Amino acid sequence: MTLSYETHTHDVIVIGAGGAGLRAAIEVSAQGLSVALICKSLLGKAHTVMAEGGAAAALGNVDPQDGWQTHFKDTIKGGKFLNNWRMAELHAKQAPERIRELELWGAVFDRTKDGKISQRAFGGHTYKRLAHVGDRTGLELIRTLQDKGIHSGIDIFMECTISKLLQDGDGRVNGAFGYWRESGRFVTFNAKAVILATGGTGKAWKVTSNSWEYTGDGHGLAYNAGAELLDMEFIQFHPTGMVWPPGVRGILVTEGVRGEGGILRNKNGERFMFKYLPESTRKSFADTEKEAKQWVEDTVANRPTTARRPPELSTRDNVALAIYTEVKEGRGTPHGGAFLDISYQDADRVKRKLPSMYHQFKELADVDITKAPMEVGPTMHYTMGGIRVNPESQMTKVPGLFAAGEVAAGLHGANRLGGNSLSDLLVFGRLAGLGAVEYAKQYDGSPKADVDQIKQAAEDLMAPFERDGEGPYEIHRDLQEIMQHKVGIVRNEEDLKAAVAALDDIQKRVDKVSVDGSIQFNPGWHLAQDLKNMILVSKAVAKCALERRESRGGHTRLDYPNYDTQLSQVNSIVTKGVDGQLQYNTAPLPEMPAELKKLFEEDKK
Ligand code: FUM
Repeated sequence: MTLSYETHTHDVIVIGAGGAGLRAAIEVSAQGLSVALICKSLLGKAHTVMAEGGAAAALGNVDPQDGWQTHFKDTIKGGKFLNNWRMAELHAKQAPERIRELELWGAVFDRTKDGKISQRAFGGHTYKRLAHVGDRTGLELIRTLQDKGIHSGIDIFMECTISKLLQDGDGRVNGAFGYWRESGRFVTFNAKAVILATGGTGKAWKVTSNSWEYTGDGHGLAYNAGAELLDMEFIQFHPTGMVWPPGVRGILVTEGVRGEGGILRNKNGERFMFKYLPESTRKSFADTEKEAKQWVEDTVANRPTTARRPPELSTRDNVALAIYTEVKEGRGTPHGGAFLDISYQDADRVKRKLPSMYHQFKELADVDITKAPMEVGPTMHYTMGGIRVNPESQMTKVPGLFAAGEVAAGLHGANRLGGNSLSDLLVFGRLAGLGAVEYAKQYDGSPKADVDQIKQAAEDLMAPFERDGEGPYEIHRDLQEIMQHKVGIVRNEEDLKAAVAALDDIQKRVDKVSVDGSIQFNPGWHLAQDLKNMILVSKAVAKCALERRESRGGHTRLDYPNYDTQLSQVNSIVTKGVDGQLQYNTAPLPEMPAELKKLFEEDKK
């Protein structure tokens, strides 16, 4: 094979151009280093836009009692105490500043009557904490960062898939190799530091809010370069995705609907969430419909309330499991979900606060949400696990390799609170940018890609054209079936063991996958590449889920319904062994300092 490729050289490259990637690249550029932002899709088309309901930050604009300490505690409690405490602390302390900065850069948030950034309620947040723009917050965040980014001297490379990270003889990352999706031609980037911001893994499941880009690419790149994957068993099924019609199943229905007072009922009209509140949180929720109604009335009227929150604002893991249980026990809606109703509110208000939901249901399901309830059910939305990073610098175990946003792990523990992802990507996107800059400034010499590595990477990319066998689409379908039904919202030993074995078979099929046609825009070939990452993350999730014999957050084991004392102390770790096989291990949770522990003690008084 004659090897030809173009080469670009920057101080830092960022792979992935959602909110985290954009924020990281802006920071690198602001610090005076050259930076490339590479994405496999078009700039601005990122899962960030699916965080519709808001960005969590303790600004205290609506509930002045709020502060970083409460946000910190909510995040740790929501994550069932498996979070990295330092990441949770940095996030809670820095989120307000990042939101104010976004406003300075042009983000147009909804306002309170006295002109401050408005904040709405979301599950698991003690106070009204989500800065929002109707139900299009992620879109506004991306729009603002994109605007800032393209005026910051960042070099942007779109529709480019990176298939391999390049490393020097000391294991330092010094670039990346990939191809242009349109022409199929190869490209190499030399860089002193690389930031991964590739988002999640949703496309390994059948029902997901994620679009085609989310195939675990950053997880695969990092793992193959020697980084650790942390807590991969924790997958977030957002409680409310569309369930009907079939072509739109999984599309997100924002938690903002419940934040604005949306009520969940089963087919018998029962407001079932009252019976699913965990004992530990029950006292912070309304006991009766009357009390829950009071909270909504006060919220709509924009006045302070002493009423407790409606039960629909329990954490996502809990609400998703409740809907799943209602359906399983025969109380689901005609298309296998729950009814979510906001139609009892003033129609103009609904359209103002939830414009996208109004249009989404009208256009896609022929339902007017100001007149009728929506049908909703759980959809795979977010990967809590991911690449293990240093909380301050976001550097992985591999020198020169950084990660931020959904692809990184630690902040959210076993379950992420809604709204914490947008603030996560702003806070840690910036810190990754700073970390990479500090590292790159100390890099000795110029990064220079090793031609043998490039040659091998090119051969790996072309291999599916050399084979005559099964295509990628059937393999992807079978992978999704396994993950959906055996590594889904509820799990057990038998299913997980079957999944691990079935995924080994899928791996063999992926290793032999074949494609036809040319290298010019060839979706089958692209999927063949993506499958390598999807099978890896699927195996990591299934293995960690099998080993975590307890239920916690986004990981529900029917055969182990409680917390396990020993497993409460450890994170799961997956690495690539010297034999090339996936290795599972555990690592002790970093010890939380006494002054932070004290915050939880004060709660008990
Ligand atoms: O429901 C939502 O608007 C999603 C928010 C998030 O995932 O943070």
